[in-house]
Amino acid sequence: MTHFHLKNGELHAEDVPLTRIAREVGTPVYVYSRAAFEANARSLQEGLAQVPNAQLAYAIKANPNLAVVNVLAKLGYGADVVSAGEMHRALAAGMPRETILFSGVGKRIDELEAALDAGIGQFNLEIEEEGAVLSELALARGVRAPAVLRVNPDVDAGTHAKISTGKAENKFGVAISEAPAIYARLAALPGLAMRGIASHIGSQIADLQPLEISYRRLGELVAELRAAGHTVTHVDLGGGFGVAYRPGEVYPTPAEIGAMVARATAGWDVKLMFEPGRFIAGNAGVLLTEVIWVKPGVGNPWVIVDAAMNDLTRPALYDAYHGFSAVRPSGERVTAHIAGPVCESGDTFAKGREIDAVVRGDLAVFHTAGAYGATMASTYNSRALVPEVLVDGDRYAVVADRIAAGTIMAAERVPEWL
Ligand code: LLP
Repeated sequence: MTHFHLKNGELHAEDVPLTRIAREVGTPVYVYSRAAFEANARSLQEGLAQVPNAQLAYAIKANPNLAVVNVLAKLGYGADVVSAGEMHRALAAGMPRETILFSGVGKRIDELEAALDAGIGQFNLEIEEEGAVLSELALARGVRAPAVLRVNPDVDAGTHAKISTGKAENKFGVAISEAPAIYARLAALPGLAMRGIASHIGSQIADLQPLEISYRRLGELVAELRAAGHTVTHVDLGGGFGVAYRPGEVYPTPAEIGAMVARATAGWDVKLMFEPGRFIAGNAGVLLTEVIWVKPGVGNPWVIVDAAMNDLTRPALYDAYHGFSAVRPSGERVTAHIAGPVCESGDTFAKGREIDAVVRGDLAVFHTAGAYGATMASTYNSRALVPEVLVDGDRYAVVADRIAAGTIMAAERVPEWL
């Protein structure tokens, strides 16, 4: 089900015509559907209801907008955070501190301190030394930090190399073969309350099999840790569930995910934690843009839009595909290239793709832009920082302002000695 659909020949987000948002807020602009976030979040809760004792922590990095995090907080989601900045967002959105878990391969001391002071629910340790430092910081505060050890199960998630995290050569976690010895040393530290293990093998995973293999390896580790006398009460299985970007793509459903998890983790008797990001946010947003020119090209014309790689970086970074549709499609189709105004050939959204025919001044959207879209935007080429809008039925709100290039320049200084 999509919450972006044609009504009277015009693309709407829920009940709001996108032409209205373009007119009132300008373009480019991200447009989100509250109902889509909620439907995705609830469907995952329902799919995982077949698993005893599951806890869902939304991966803030996918879409950290405060309004979006509020929507998920209201549904009972906790948060997976990777920086103090993300933790403050989760807290500001009303997520209870004990539902916040802190992942990340490079947590700084000040971030560990801030998280201890906030009293978050769990630290996912990526390095033995990190555990030793955290133990000291916790002792100095008279507390024990609840922690799990992130292990690298050496499984190929079958996804893009830049978003694969669970192979031995990746920087994340400790080698699963070394985990028992490291765990034993961490469990002996007085400032830590070690309670289990964590893993995350990658993002945009299309096939449940690598996930199941990694979960089974974690199950063997749980048994080994228990045999060595450790109490294991929590296993964090990470995120990574993929979503369809191209027409006709089929991805595992929440029911299939739940069935696989139930099968792979049967008898573990732990609290299972999940860190979904893209699954919840991916199809809940589009990037609304205006066609600036249609320029003749060799072979195909170039559709030059006012959104660029600084607003939606995924195509330039991962050769990612985002669907493109006209807001008022005429029914005519053309084969074209689509690019933005930034001065790099990499600022290209599609090459030789069949799309709705558009002309100068038309509005169009890039689909499936709710996750890893606005949050990865920059101001490259001194462009404004792209704004965000949240739609709810027939109303909408600007939930992040456009930050003008002039505002960014105003934060810069020319030293007096220049
Ligand atoms: N947990 C951990 C430890 C992670 O590193 C990530 C994503 C997640 C959870 C959430 O994964 P998800 O459920 O969203 O797949 N910028 C890239 C994606 C990077 C993902 C990084 N880690 C993209 O645009 O495709």
